[in-house]
Amino acid sequence: MLNISGKRILSGIQPSGALHIGNYFGAIRQHIMLQENNECYYFVANYHAMTTIHDKRTLEEYTFMVALDYLALGLNPDKATLFIQSDVPEVTELAWILSTITPMGLLERAHSYKDKIAKGISPNHGLFAYPVLMAADILIYDSELVPVGKDQKQHLEMTRDMAEKFNGIFGETFVIPEELILPEVAVVPGIDGQKMSKSYDNTIEIFADYKTLKSKVMRIVTDSTPLEAPKDPDKSTIFALYKLFATPEETENMRQKFLAGGYGYGQAKKELLEKIWTYFEPHRKRREDLLKNRDYVYQVLRDGALRARERAEAVMERVRKAAGVLQYRYFKVSSV
Ligand code: ADP
Ligand code: TRP
Repeated sequence: MLNISGKRILSGIQPSGALHIGNYFGAIRQHIMLQENNECYYFVANYHAMTTIHDKRTLEEYTFMVALDYLALGLNPDKATLFIQSDVPEVTELAWILSTITPMGLLERAHSYKDKIAKGISPNHGLFAYPVLMAADILIYDSELVPVGKDQKQHLEMTRDMAEKFNGIFGETFVIPEELILPEVAVVPGIDGQKMSKSYDNTIEIFADYKTLKSKVMRIVTDSTPLEAPKDPDKSTIFALYKLFATPEETENMRQKFLAGGYGYGQAKKELLEKIWTYFEPHRKRREDLLKNRDYVYQVLRDGALRARERAEAVMERVRKAAGVLQYRYFKVSSV
């Protein structure tokens, strides 16, 4: 598993909808594992989500939900710091400062920006400046390692470019961070067989109710191999998903049933459904408890914000002093 210790780790999660099992196996599970031996900071990137969400209720709900789900899935606030991005407003100050040394060309080359434009999304300035805010998120906590999916690799390279440029102009100020491209699973497929993603509308949500979960699993696309015929497990989305939840013995068992024939996709889907449902059972219980005790969640977010802000403030003082950004409290007044 993830053999990393003693690092200051940070990652952000955009609150752009209910978390799905691609997010879980691709990111959340590793975030939670890393809390054991590292100093972890995880935040809900609500400022980033504002580049696409312009509905007050939706933004509020999704922001709270991500925090809730992380706690339900095992984030331990005694071990990791969990907070909301906007609770450390200094991050937008740093984003501004970084933007003044960021060449337009660097941002124009961003894949995620170009992809969105290609999809016909009419870009706002926030979307264009997204990587600058992300760099600020990372640099403001002196982060050493940033666990992300490979789609975020370029953002980390841009972060390093900005940090190095700032250090070059103003002297050593920022720790240069590294990305940790999460290696555990490749790509979790969605119910249509493509990469599971909110943007493809093919997700299975971690905390879907049973009926919704069932309908999603039953809609997993299969080929038309007849029930009696042997089937290739490695071409099946059902099998690919089952593997994530099952023990090696159970996986081998299902593989043999596929290969033997006489085992229908419908039956395989039922087994998958039960596996997903029981896998998340303890987390679902914990989530229900947390929902009955929202004050606890608020308290966790408050404590997290205070801890994160203290660190951010120390880094900002370094940044302001390096760049000559005056604040009255830096003046020494001899008699007050
Ligand atoms: P989405 O594509 O649904 O919008 P995000 O881009 O918000 O998901 O992904 C958040 C995190 O979850 C990222 O670290 C990403 O790499 C990971 N992730 C998302 N979908 C998958 C998937 N299908 N397989 C593996 N990891 C995924
Ligand atoms: N851009 C990241 C994503 O979409 C979310 C994010 C925002 C982030 N700020 C960050 C991730 C800082 C790591 C570090 O997944």
